[in-house]
Amino acid sequence: MPRPVLATIDARAMAANLDTVSRLARATLPGVSVWAVIKARGYGHGIQAAIEGFAQADGLALLDFDEAVQCRELGWRKPILLLEGFFEPADLALVQAHDLGIVIHDSGQLDILESMHLERPVDAWVKLNTGMHRLGFQPEEYRHQYARALALQARGQLGQVGRMTHFARADDDPATTRAQLACFRTVTAGLPGPVSVCNSAATLTAGLSRTLGEGPQVVRPGVCLYGASPFSSKSAASLGLQPAMTLSSVLISAHSLQAGEGIGYGHVYRAPHGMRVGIVACGYADGYPRHAPTGTPVQVAGVRTRVVGRISMDMLAVDLDPIPQAGPGAPVVLWGAGGPSVDEVAAASATIGYELLVALAPRVPRRVVSVAGTG
Ligand SMILES: Cc1ncc(COP(=O)(O)O)c(C=O)c1O
Repeated sequence: MPRPVLATIDARAMAANLDTVSRLARATLPGVSVWAVIKARGYGHGIQAAIEGFAQADGLALLDFDEAVQCRELGWRKPILLLEGFFEPADLALVQAHDLGIVIHDSGQLDILESMHLERPVDAWVKLNTGMHRLGFQPEEYRHQYARALALQARGQLGQVGRMTHFARADDDPATTRAQLACFRTVTAGLPGPVSVCNSAATLTAGLSRTLGEGPQVVRPGVCLYGASPFSSKSAASLGLQPAMTLSSVLISAHSLQAGEGIGYGHVYRAPHGMRVGIVACGYADGYPRHAPTGTPVQVAGVRTRVVGRISMDMLAVDLDPIPQAGPGAPVVLWGAGGPSVDEVAAASATIGYELLVALAPRVPRRVVSVAGTG
């Protein structure tokens, strides 16, 4: 029998979230295309589940060539965008063979493209650094680099050429986002091609997408499509999103502690009075955060309680005082449907839902609930 820890991946929730986010985006920006970001194995949910859950998306965006090829092998025929573009000339063979779009963010990439002959035109998005200071051309050089891309297009080396940028603070600071957007509009004014600007936070910010600039629009939401919130101050549920990943397990032991007895490594938690604790088959080797402190929410037998003591590699302890009847075999939801949200667990652990989702360990068995309701 496998260990009872399990990740249930609900492709129906992913499809519903895509629908919710697409409606919202289209309400402010009619005709906008919605490309689902599925990097890091679909934010930990798996490429296969992402292909199924996001079947209605207009495109996909990711980083790794093997994941892009997997999408094609699974039958995805719509656009796929490589968010970091290509890394060396040899990559362009794969790009052409699998009809992948590239981000161009560095002049070295254009040097390579200008020195090669491509058998088929490649779609490209030229990235502007509007203030994230991660990838992208500086504002003063952008139009020159865009002209190089357009020249490659005229030579049949590039297909569609578009403009893009990425926001640094769409989740917490509208002023910074407005400044980035103003920079984007000024620098790219009058350039031909589609525009791609918004991540989850920007897509979910009403009114923002009205001001993105002229041209066909593409939004690139990621985390919200998996039912997690990009905002620290707004829950995913309040945004109408459903959790796509549920991490569950069971109690494999339950016992009593005397007042003053410590539990787990370091005895960082000591029972203030006589109490019952349960031991859950889930630890940091499964992807549960080791730094989740005492008090982190967890659901046991349908009742919300808390983690106590330090998280072990394979186990963690929970307070059973609110659930005196719970013993071995009692169901536990670490995060997801019927339990705390991944964002709540992340907040308690001083991180973000993104990190917990992508850190789900390969050893955790997965069950995908397909859009048809099976699995
Ligand atoms: C370039 C780019 N676009 C879109 C996204 C999606 O972001 P989010 O998951 O916050 O929606 C990311 C994610 O980091 C990204 O790097």
